[in-house]
Amino acid sequence: MAIKKLYIQTFGCQMNVHDSEQIVALLKPHGYVETDRASKADVILVNTCSIREKADQKVYSQLGRFSLLKKDKPDLIIGVGGCLAQQFGKKLLQRAPFVDLIFGTHNNHLLPDLLVKAGTGRAAVVETSFRDHVPSIGFPTSPAQGAISAFVTIMQGCNNFCSFCIVPYVRGREESRQPEAIIQEIRALAVQGIQEVTLLGQNVNSYGSTLANDWNFPKLLKEIDRINGIRRIRFTTSHPKDLSDELIACFGSVPKLCEHIHLPVQSGSDQILRRMNRRYTRADYIDKVEKLRSACPGISITSDVIVGFPGESETDFEQTLALMRDVKFDGLFSFRYSEREGTAALAYKDKVPDCHKKERLRFLQALQDEHTLEKNMAMVGRDVPVLAEGYSKNSRAEISGRTPTNRIVNFPGALSLIGKIVPVRITEAYLHSLHGEQLEVKEG
Ligand code: SAH
Ligand code: SF4
Ligand code: F3S
Repeated sequence: MAIKKLYIQTFGCQMNVHDSEQIVALLKPHGYVETDRASKADVILVNTCSIREKADQKVYSQLGRFSLLKKDKPDLIIGVGGCLAQQFGKKLLQRAPFVDLIFGTHNNHLLPDLLVKAGTGRAAVVETSFRDHVPSIGFPTSPAQGAISAFVTIMQGCNNFCSFCIVPYVRGREESRQPEAIIQEIRALAVQGIQEVTLLGQNVNSYGSTLANDWNFPKLLKEIDRINGIRRIRFTTSHPKDLSDELIACFGSVPKLCEHIHLPVQSGSDQILRRMNRRYTRADYIDKVEKLRSACPGISITSDVIVGFPGESETDFEQTLALMRDVKFDGLFSFRYSEREGTAALAYKDKVPDCHKKERLRFLQALQDEHTLEKNMAMVGRDVPVLAEGYSKNSRAEISGRTPTNRIVNFPGALSLIGKIVPVRITEAYLHSLHGEQLEVKEG
């Protein structure tokens, strides 16, 4: 079997990152070896995101750069997968006619055959059909040597249809994986040295709703908690409307569950939340936050906000800022509303001008920076367990890891600490990380 070099570039969320890992793993037995240099590749795959306009522009410009490599290597195959490929299918060829293969989000498992076809035929190969069951959903990946953390998909798709969001259209209907398969996959990861798993789904809180048996997300967490070798469990993302009291209670009772929840609020205005089809109110959200903090006082709460959704007045925006001041998020991802083809929000005519969106975003981000720094400063002097992951980005003399609340901590330490949970006293706080000193090493 001839060896072919594969370069894969990934845009978008953790689900896409994990899909790319699965693609690499499923192509391996067919002779594809990953390379980190596009110029060396025989096959370039771009796994795309279409959540916002900026996301698709980045993909097109990257594709343009890759097309230049065909001058020296006419047999080079360029394939495009992921959400943008699903959305536009063969229309993508109008803007990128040099692409040889377009594969949608439900077709990763077909890649070995699709690549053969793309290498032999003249016309581009396009496969974007949706399936009731996504065959690659649980495809096992093999963690790199020394990896500590791994993603595990527990569900696919989304049924929520928030009016701004493209995901339900490009990822299809919600489907939960069988719990036995998830548990088996995590056990296998633990045997390979993985200590931390991040469970992935667009809305993990509704896990189990498509299963015939009575599994739900809290029950799944409790089962995963029992797996030997796994020391930390994280998950993303949660929809506030489906955050149950039972799940909130897990933060106080499931020992390996990390004290962090990403709970996107999107807006602090009830009028806007209604238009977004989020199905909770500002009061519901605050109530959940209070419950989370009483179940787990140290919990870190992060969120997503969209500014400039159609109809968002200054007063609506002020309500988002007021909610931020009430809740004090530990971290926040914030975005300018971006119109997406096919979504319900297109029908709203009262658009917010881009200059207002930009101004609101700047203001909101400055406020969040104050909150993030304040929260990080409050960590100074505290002792925290840090799962050491690798060298620090800035200095090879330092080790970097994360607290259960998902804060990055850098501290001077030996390479042998990697993979251990190290007690660290926090000495300095910055906007994006903390600095500390190792206390003593707990073995195991
Ligand atoms: N499933 C996740 C969100 C996935 S998309 C959830 O429900 O929380 C990640 C974030 O992108 C969303 O939370 C939202 O804040 C942002 N987003 C989605 N569509 C957008 C759009 N059209 N314009 C701007 N931001 C958007
Ligand atoms: Fe999009 Fe809403 Fe589904 Fe999240 S829950 S993926 S924002 S439709
Ligand atoms: Fe983007 Fe698709 Fe994820 S649109 S955010 S890559 S689900």
